[in-house]
Amino acid sequence: MKYNFDEITPRRHSGCIKYDGAALMGKPEGLIPLWVADMDFPAPPEVTAEIMAAARRGIFGYNLVTDGYATAAANWFADRFGYRTERDWLVTSPGVVFALGLAIRSQTAPGEAVMIPQPVYHPFARLVTANGRKLVNNGLVYRDGRYEIDLVDFEEKIVTHAVKMFVLCSPHNPVGRVWTADELTAMGRICLKHKCLVVSDEIHCDFTWPGHRHHVFAALSPEFAQNSIICTAPSKTFNLAGLQASNIFIANKEVREKFAREKSNAGAGELNNLGLVACQAAYEHGRDWLEQLREYLGANLSLLKSALAGTKVRLIEPEGTYLAWLDFNALGLSAQDLDDLITARAGLWLDEGAKFGPGGEGFYRMNLACPKATLEQALTQLNRALKDGR
Ligand SMILES: Cc1ncc(COP(=O)(O)O)c(C=O)c1O
Repeated sequence: MKYNFDEITPRRHSGCIKYDGAALMGKPEGLIPLWVADMDFPAPPEVTAEIMAAARRGIFGYNLVTDGYATAAANWFADRFGYRTERDWLVTSPGVVFALGLAIRSQTAPGEAVMIPQPVYHPFARLVTANGRKLVNNGLVYRDGRYEIDLVDFEEKIVTHAVKMFVLCSPHNPVGRVWTADELTAMGRICLKHKCLVVSDEIHCDFTWPGHRHHVFAALSPEFAQNSIICTAPSKTFNLAGLQASNIFIANKEVREKFAREKSNAGAGELNNLGLVACQAAYEHGRDWLEQLREYLGANLSLLKSALAGTKVRLIEPEGTYLAWLDFNALGLSAQDLDDLITARAGLWLDEGAKFGPGGEGFYRMNLACPKATLEQALTQLNRALKDGR
Protein backbone atom coordinates (compact mmCIF):
# COMPACT_ATOMS: atom_id res chain seq x y z
CA MET A 1 0.00 0.00 0.00
CA LYS A 2 1.45 3.34 -1.08
CA TYR A 3 -0.73 5.48 1.21
CA ASN A 4 -1.25 4.90 4.91
CA PHE A 5 -4.92 5.20 5.80
CA ASP A 6 -4.35 3.54 9.19
CA GLU A 7 -2.59 6.57 10.56
CA ILE A 8 -4.68 8.64 12.95
CA THR A 9 -4.50 12.36 12.27
CA PRO A 10 -5.63 14.26 15.36
CA ARG A 11 -8.50 16.56 14.48
CA ARG A 12 -9.70 17.70 17.89
CA HIS A 13 -9.11 21.42 18.49
CA SER A 14 -8.44 21.99 14.79
CA GLY A 15 -11.69 23.91 14.35
CA CYS A 16 -13.34 21.13 12.34
CA ILE A 17 -17.06 20.72 12.87
CA LYS A 18 -16.89 16.93 13.02
CA TYR A 19 -14.83 16.87 16.24
CA ASP A 20 -15.12 20.36 17.64
CA GLY A 21 -18.77 21.12 16.90
CA ALA A 22 -20.34 19.18 19.78
CA ALA A 23 -21.48 22.22 21.77
CA LEU A 24 -22.72 23.88 18.61
CA MET A 25 -24.70 20.80 17.62
CA GLY A 26 -26.06 20.09 21.11
CA LYS A 27 -24.01 16.93 21.65
CA PRO A 28 -21.96 15.92 24.66
CA GLU A 29 -18.19 16.19 24.35
CA GLY A 30 -15.98 13.14 23.82
CA LEU A 31 -18.17 11.05 21.48
CA ILE A 32 -16.54 9.21 18.59
CA PRO A 33 -17.76 11.31 15.66
CA LEU A 34 -18.89 9.25 12.69
CA TRP A 35 -21.41 11.76 11.48
CA VAL A 36 -20.91 14.61 8.96
CA ALA A 37 -19.64 13.43 5.56
CA ASP A 38 -15.99 14.32 5.65
CA MET A 39 -13.16 11.88 6.10
CA ASP A 40 -10.59 11.46 8.83
CA PHE A 41 -7.90 11.00 6.17
CA PRO A 42 -5.59 13.75 4.95
CA ALA A 43 -6.09 14.67 1.29
CA PRO A 44 -3.75 12.96 -1.20
CA PRO A 45 -0.15 14.12 -0.63
CA GLU A 46 -0.01 15.09 -4.32
CA VAL A 47 -2.77 17.62 -3.62
CA THR A 48 -1.23 18.97 -0.44
CA ALA A 49 2.09 19.44 -2.28
CA GLU A 50 0.40 21.67 -4.87
CA ILE A 51 -1.36 23.65 -2.15
CA MET A 52 1.98 24.13 -0.35
CA ALA A 53 3.61 25.31 -3.56
CA ALA A 54 0.80 27.82 -4.08
CA ALA A 55 1.03 28.91 -0.44
CA ARG A 56 4.77 29.48 -0.82
CA ARG A 57 4.12 31.90 -3.67
CA GLY A 58 2.26 33.79 -1.00
CA ILE A 59 -0.10 35.79 -3.17
CA PHE A 60 -3.77 34.99 -2.82
CA GLY A 61 -5.33 37.40 -5.27
CA TYR A 62 -8.22 36.87 -7.65
CA ASN A 63 -8.12 33.84 -9.87
CA LEU A 64 -9.75 32.56 -13.00
CA VAL A 65 -10.68 29.11 -14.18
CA THR A 66 -7.71 28.17 -16.34
CA ASP A 67 -7.83 25.80 -19.29
CA GLY A 68 -5.77 23.40 -17.17
CA TYR A 69 -8.40 23.39 -14.45
CA ALA A 70 -11.32 22.96 -16.86
CA THR A 71 -9.52 20.15 -18.70
CA ALA A 72 -8.70 18.31 -15.48
CA ALA A 73 -12.34 18.42 -14.39
CA ALA A 74 -13.65 17.46 -17.83
CA ASN A 75 -11.20 14.56 -18.16
CA TRP A 76 -12.18 13.16 -14.78
CA PHE A 77 -15.80 12.77 -15.84
CA ALA A 78 -15.04 11.69 -19.41
CA ASP A 79 -12.55 9.01 -18.35
CA ARG A 80 -14.44 7.63 -15.38
CA PHE A 81 -18.05 7.93 -16.47
CA GLY A 82 -17.99 8.55 -20.22
CA TYR A 83 -19.55 11.96 -19.60
CA ARG A 84 -18.18 14.35 -22.22
CA THR A 85 -18.60 18.01 -21.44
CA GLU A 86 -17.81 21.21 -23.26
CA ARG A 87 -15.72 23.99 -21.78
CA ASP A 88 -18.54 26.51 -21.56
CA TRP A 89 -20.88 24.13 -19.70
CA LEU A 90 -18.79 24.55 -16.56
CA VAL A 91 -19.92 26.98 -13.90
CA THR A 92 -17.98 26.80 -10.64
CA SER A 93 -19.64 27.14 -7.26
CA PRO A 94 -18.25 27.40 -3.73
CA GLY A 95 -20.28 24.31 -2.86
CA VAL A 96 -22.85 21.89 -4.14
CA VAL A 97 -25.36 23.05 -1.53
CA PHE A 98 -24.85 26.63 -2.72
CA ALA A 99 -25.38 25.41 -6.29
CA LEU A 100 -28.62 23.64 -5.32
CA GLY A 101 -29.86 26.91 -3.85
CA LEU A 102 -28.88 28.77 -7.02
CA ALA A 103 -30.61 26.16 -9.15
CA ILE A 104 -33.85 26.45 -7.18
CA ARG A 105 -33.76 30.24 -7.20
CA SER A 106 -32.83 30.61 -10.85
CA GLN A 107 -35.06 28.00 -12.48
CA THR A 108 -38.24 28.13 -10.41
CA ALA A 109 -40.44 30.90 -9.04
CA PRO A 110 -41.59 31.31 -5.44
CA GLY A 111 -44.60 29.09 -4.75
CA GLU A 112 -43.69 26.60 -7.50
CA ALA A 113 -43.13 22.96 -6.56
CA VAL A 114 -39.78 21.22 -6.26
CA MET A 115 -39.69 17.45 -5.69
CA ILE A 116 -37.10 15.50 -3.69
CA PRO A 117 -36.78 11.80 -2.74
CA GLN A 118 -36.81 11.52 1.06
CA PRO A 119 -35.13 10.34 3.16
CA VAL A 120 -32.43 12.42 1.50
CA TYR A 121 -29.52 14.73 2.35
CA HIS A 122 -31.24 17.21 4.66
CA PRO A 123 -30.33 20.55 2.99
CA PHE A 124 -32.49 19.53 0.01
CA ALA A 125 -35.72 20.09 1.96
CA ARG A 126 -34.45 23.18 3.71
CA LEU A 127 -33.37 24.86 0.48
CA VAL A 128 -36.77 24.27 -1.10
CA THR A 129 -38.78 25.64 1.80
CA ALA A 130 -36.38 28.41 2.82
CA ASN A 131 -36.61 29.77 -0.72
CA GLY A 132 -40.39 29.80 -0.57
CA ARG A 133 -40.94 26.90 -2.97
CA LYS A 134 -43.41 24.10 -2.34
CA LEU A 135 -41.81 20.88 -1.12
CA VAL A 136 -43.08 17.69 -2.73
CA ASN A 137 -41.72 14.37 -1.51
CA ASN A 138 -41.47 11.35 -3.77
CA GLY A 139 -40.70 9.14 -0.77
CA LEU A 140 -38.34 6.25 -1.44
CA VAL A 141 -39.89 2.83 -0.96
CA TYR A 142 -38.09 0.63 1.58
CA ARG A 143 -38.74 -3.01 0.84
CA ASP A 144 -36.77 -6.09 1.91
CA GLY A 145 -33.81 -4.00 3.02
CA ARG A 146 -33.60 -2.04 -0.23
CA TYR A 147 -34.78 1.34 -1.44
CA GLU A 148 -36.55 2.00 -4.69
CA ILE A 149 -38.22 4.86 -6.50
CA ASP A 150 -41.99 4.64 -6.82
CA LEU A 151 -42.30 5.73 -10.44
CA VAL A 152 -46.09 5.89 -10.37
CA ASP A 153 -46.00 8.26 -7.41
CA PHE A 154 -43.14 10.11 -9.12
CA GLU A 155 -45.22 10.96 -12.18
CA GLU A 156 -48.48 11.51 -10.30
CA LYS A 157 -46.85 14.03 -7.98
CA ILE A 158 -45.19 15.88 -10.85
CA VAL A 159 -48.54 16.21 -12.58
CA THR A 160 -50.65 16.99 -9.49
CA HIS A 161 -48.32 19.64 -8.13
CA ALA A 162 -47.02 20.93 -11.49
CA VAL A 163 -43.52 20.19 -10.23
CA LYS A 164 -40.93 22.35 -12.00
CA MET A 165 -37.78 20.73 -10.66
CA PHE A 166 -36.68 17.35 -9.35
CA VAL A 167 -33.56 17.21 -7.20
CA LEU A 168 -31.92 13.82 -7.59
CA CYS A 169 -29.28 12.51 -5.21
CA SER A 170 -27.07 10.15 -7.21
CA PRO A 171 -25.55 8.11 -5.59
CA HIS A 172 -28.08 8.58 -2.86
CA ASN A 173 -27.15 9.93 0.56
CA PRO A 174 -28.14 8.47 3.02
CA VAL A 175 -29.63 5.22 1.69
CA GLY A 176 -26.59 4.31 -0.43
CA ARG A 177 -28.36 3.49 -3.69
CA VAL A 178 -26.47 3.81 -6.96
CA TRP A 179 -29.31 4.32 -9.40
CA THR A 180 -29.23 2.03 -12.41
CA ALA A 181 -29.33 3.37 -15.97
CA ASP A 182 -32.88 2.02 -16.25
CA GLU A 183 -34.06 3.82 -13.13
CA LEU A 184 -32.43 7.08 -14.19
CA THR A 185 -33.85 6.77 -17.67
CA ALA A 186 -37.34 6.17 -16.34
CA MET A 187 -37.15 9.23 -14.09
CA GLY A 188 -35.53 11.31 -16.82
CA ARG A 189 -38.24 10.46 -19.37
CA ILE A 190 -41.04 11.40 -16.98
CA CYS A 191 -39.29 14.68 -16.22
CA LEU A 192 -38.85 15.46 -19.93
CA LYS A 193 -42.49 14.65 -20.62
CA HIS A 194 -43.70 17.09 -17.97
CA LYS A 195 -41.03 19.77 -18.48
CA CYS A 196 -39.55 19.23 -15.05
CA LEU A 197 -35.87 20.15 -14.81
CA VAL A 198 -33.56 17.60 -13.17
CA VAL A 199 -30.90 18.83 -10.78
CA SER A 200 -28.60 15.90 -10.18
CA ASP A 201 -26.36 16.05 -7.12
CA GLU A 202 -23.55 13.64 -8.01
CA ILE A 203 -21.09 14.62 -5.29
CA HIS A 204 -20.71 10.97 -4.18
CA CYS A 205 -20.11 9.64 -7.72
CA ASP A 206 -16.60 8.38 -7.01
CA PHE A 207 -17.74 6.04 -4.26
CA THR A 208 -19.45 3.01 -5.71
CA TRP A 209 -19.07 -0.42 -4.17
CA PRO A 210 -18.01 -3.37 -6.34
CA GLY A 211 -20.69 -4.45 -8.78
CA HIS A 212 -22.25 -1.00 -9.04
CA ARG A 213 -21.63 1.62 -11.68
CA HIS A 214 -22.38 5.31 -11.47
CA HIS A 215 -24.10 6.89 -14.46
CA VAL A 216 -23.95 10.63 -14.86
CA PHE A 217 -27.57 11.56 -15.50
CA ALA A 218 -26.73 13.88 -18.40
CA ALA A 219 -24.62 11.22 -20.11
CA LEU A 220 -27.64 8.98 -20.63
CA SER A 221 -29.08 11.01 -23.51
CA PRO A 222 -28.66 14.39 -25.22
CA GLU A 223 -32.24 15.23 -24.19
CA PHE A 224 -31.39 14.57 -20.55
CA ALA A 225 -28.27 16.72 -20.90
CA GLN A 226 -30.46 19.59 -22.12
CA ASN A 227 -32.88 19.10 -19.22
CA SER A 228 -30.46 18.95 -16.33
CA ILE A 229 -27.94 20.60 -14.06
CA ILE A 230 -25.16 18.25 -12.96
CA CYS A 231 -23.56 19.08 -9.63
CA THR A 232 -20.12 17.64 -8.96
CA ALA A 233 -17.18 18.34 -6.68
CA PRO A 234 -13.85 16.84 -5.65
CA SER A 235 -14.78 17.54 -2.03
CA LYS A 236 -16.13 14.14 -0.92
CA THR A 237 -13.74 12.18 -3.12
CA PHE A 238 -10.54 13.80 -1.87
CA ASN A 239 -11.69 15.30 1.44
CA LEU A 240 -11.51 18.90 0.27
CA ALA A 241 -14.90 20.21 1.44
CA GLY A 242 -13.39 23.09 3.41
CA LEU A 243 -11.71 24.41 0.28
CA GLN A 244 -15.10 25.05 -1.25
CA ALA A 245 -14.73 24.18 -4.90
CA SER A 246 -17.41 22.49 -6.93
CA ASN A 247 -18.08 22.13 -10.63
CA ILE A 248 -21.55 22.44 -12.07
CA PHE A 249 -22.08 21.27 -15.66
CA ILE A 250 -25.01 22.77 -17.54
CA ALA A 251 -25.34 21.94 -21.24
CA ASN A 252 -28.49 23.99 -21.82
CA LYS A 253 -27.43 27.56 -22.58
CA GLU A 254 -30.61 29.19 -21.33
CA VAL A 255 -30.57 27.24 -18.07
CA ARG A 256 -26.86 27.96 -17.65
CA GLU A 257 -27.23 31.68 -18.20
CA LYS A 258 -30.01 31.93 -15.62
CA PHE A 259 -27.92 29.92 -13.17
CA ALA A 260 -24.81 32.05 -13.77
CA ARG A 261 -26.85 35.24 -13.35
CA GLU A 262 -28.18 34.03 -10.01
CA LYS A 263 -24.64 33.25 -8.91
CA SER A 264 -23.51 36.69 -9.91
CA ASN A 265 -26.52 38.29 -8.19
CA ALA A 266 -25.59 36.45 -5.01
CA GLY A 267 -22.25 38.23 -5.21
CA ALA A 268 -20.19 35.13 -5.85
CA GLY A 269 -17.15 35.50 -8.09
CA GLU A 270 -14.54 32.90 -8.97
CA LEU A 271 -13.47 30.19 -6.54
CA ASN A 272 -10.78 30.73 -3.92
CA ASN A 273 -7.37 30.04 -5.36
CA LEU A 274 -6.36 27.17 -3.08
CA GLY A 275 -9.63 25.44 -3.91
CA LEU A 276 -8.84 25.73 -7.61
CA VAL A 277 -5.31 24.42 -7.08
CA ALA A 278 -6.52 21.50 -4.97
CA CYS A 279 -9.29 20.48 -7.35
CA GLN A 280 -7.02 20.50 -10.38
CA ALA A 281 -4.29 18.57 -8.57
CA ALA A 282 -6.76 15.99 -7.27
CA TYR A 283 -8.26 15.35 -10.69
CA GLU A 284 -4.83 15.20 -12.30
CA HIS A 285 -2.94 13.17 -9.72
CA GLY A 286 -5.43 11.62 -7.29
CA ARG A 287 -6.43 8.41 -9.05
CA ASP A 288 -4.10 5.97 -7.28
CA TRP A 289 -4.94 7.44 -3.91
CA LEU A 290 -8.64 7.09 -4.61
CA GLU A 291 -8.30 3.47 -5.73
CA GLN A 292 -6.44 2.60 -2.56
CA LEU A 293 -8.94 4.51 -0.45
CA ARG A 294 -11.83 2.61 -2.00
CA GLU A 295 -10.17 -0.67 -1.06
CA TYR A 296 -9.58 0.57 2.45
CA LEU A 297 -13.20 1.61 2.82
CA GLY A 298 -14.22 -1.85 1.62
CA ALA A 299 -12.33 -3.36 4.54
CA ASN A 300 -14.09 -0.93 6.90
CA LEU A 301 -17.44 -2.00 5.49
CA SER A 302 -16.54 -5.64 6.15
CA LEU A 303 -15.65 -4.73 9.74
CA LEU A 304 -19.06 -3.14 10.16
CA LYS A 305 -20.80 -6.19 8.73
CA SER A 306 -19.02 -8.56 11.11
CA ALA A 307 -19.76 -6.32 14.05
CA LEU A 308 -23.47 -6.22 13.25
CA ALA A 309 -23.82 -9.96 12.62
CA GLY A 310 -25.93 -11.42 15.40
CA THR A 311 -27.39 -8.06 16.41
CA LYS A 312 -30.82 -6.69 15.59
CA VAL A 313 -29.31 -3.77 13.72
CA ARG A 314 -29.71 -4.09 9.99
CA LEU A 315 -27.23 -2.61 7.56
CA ILE A 316 -28.82 -1.46 4.33
CA GLU A 317 -26.35 -2.98 1.87
CA PRO A 318 -24.70 0.10 0.40
CA GLU A 319 -24.13 0.36 -3.33
CA GLY A 320 -22.37 3.69 -3.08
CA THR A 321 -21.06 6.42 -0.71
CA TYR A 322 -18.91 5.86 2.37
CA LEU A 323 -21.98 6.32 4.57
CA ALA A 324 -23.68 3.30 6.12
CA TRP A 325 -27.44 3.51 6.67
CA LEU A 326 -28.42 1.45 9.68
CA ASP A 327 -31.92 0.32 10.61
CA PHE A 328 -32.41 0.11 14.39
CA ASN A 329 -36.20 -0.31 14.22
CA ALA A 330 -36.12 -3.99 15.21
CA LEU A 331 -34.91 -2.91 18.66
CA GLY A 332 -38.35 -1.43 19.22
CA LEU A 333 -37.02 1.63 21.03
CA SER A 334 -38.52 5.10 21.15
CA ALA A 335 -36.55 7.86 19.42
CA GLN A 336 -35.38 9.06 22.83
CA ASP A 337 -34.25 5.60 24.00
CA LEU A 338 -32.49 5.00 20.72
CA ASP A 339 -30.64 8.28 20.99
CA ASP A 340 -29.70 7.32 24.53
CA LEU A 341 -28.34 4.00 23.29
CA ILE A 342 -26.24 5.55 20.51
CA THR A 343 -25.07 8.69 22.26
CA ALA A 344 -24.97 8.12 26.02
CA ARG A 345 -24.31 4.38 26.13
CA ALA A 346 -22.32 3.68 22.96
CA GLY A 347 -20.59 7.08 23.03
CA LEU A 348 -21.07 7.60 19.29
CA TRP A 349 -22.01 10.63 17.29
CA LEU A 350 -24.00 9.45 14.30
CA ASP A 351 -26.55 11.29 12.18
CA GLU A 352 -30.07 10.48 13.29
CA GLY A 353 -32.22 9.27 10.42
CA ALA A 354 -35.16 11.58 11.08
CA LYS A 355 -32.93 14.48 10.04
CA PHE A 356 -33.18 13.20 6.44
CA GLY A 357 -36.96 13.49 6.37
CA PRO A 358 -39.92 11.11 6.52
CA GLY A 359 -38.83 7.47 6.36
CA GLY A 360 -35.64 8.15 8.30
CA GLU A 361 -37.10 7.42 11.74
CA GLY A 362 -35.33 4.62 13.60
CA PHE A 363 -32.28 4.80 11.31
CA TYR A 364 -28.82 6.22 11.89
CA ARG A 365 -26.15 7.12 9.34
CA MET A 366 -22.59 6.07 10.11
CA ASN A 367 -19.57 7.54 8.30
CA LEU A 368 -17.05 4.77 7.54
CA ALA A 369 -14.29 7.07 6.25
CA CYS A 370 -11.95 6.83 9.21
CA PRO A 371 -8.91 4.76 10.19
CA LYS A 372 -9.68 1.16 11.03
CA ALA A 373 -8.74 1.65 14.70
CA THR A 374 -11.33 4.41 15.10
CA LEU A 375 -14.02 2.27 13.54
CA GLU A 376 -13.08 -0.78 15.61
CA GLN A 377 -13.35 1.26 18.78
CA ALA A 378 -16.71 2.65 17.73
CA LEU A 379 -18.05 -0.80 16.86
CA THR A 380 -16.83 -2.25 20.16
CA GLN A 381 -18.68 0.50 22.00
CA LEU A 382 -21.81 -0.02 19.93
CA ASN A 383 -21.81 -3.78 20.50
CA ARG A 384 -21.31 -3.34 24.22
CA ALA A 385 -24.25 -0.94 24.40
CA LEU A 386 -26.43 -3.28 22.35
CA LYS A 387 -25.60 -6.22 24.66
CA ASP A 388 -26.21 -4.19 27.80
CA GLY A 389 -29.56 -3.09 26.43
CA ARG A 390 -30.89 -6.63 25.92
C1 LIG B 1 -25.54 14.68 -1.38
C2 LIG B 1 -24.67 15.80 -0.89
N1 LIG B 1 -24.66 16.97 -1.54
C3 LIG B 1 -23.90 18.01 -1.13
C4 LIG B 1 -23.10 17.88 -0.01
C5 LIG B 1 -22.28 19.05 0.44
O1 LIG B 1 -21.69 19.69 -0.62
P1 LIG B 1 -20.89 21.04 -0.45
O2 LIG B 1 -20.01 20.91 0.75
O3 LIG B 1 -20.15 21.15 -1.73
O4 LIG B 1 -21.90 22.13 -0.30
C6 LIG B 1 -23.07 16.69 0.69
C7 LIG B 1 -22.26 16.57 1.90
O5 LIG B 1 -22.44 15.68 2.69
C8 LIG B 1 -23.87 15.63 0.24
O6 LIG B 1 -23.88 14.45 0.87
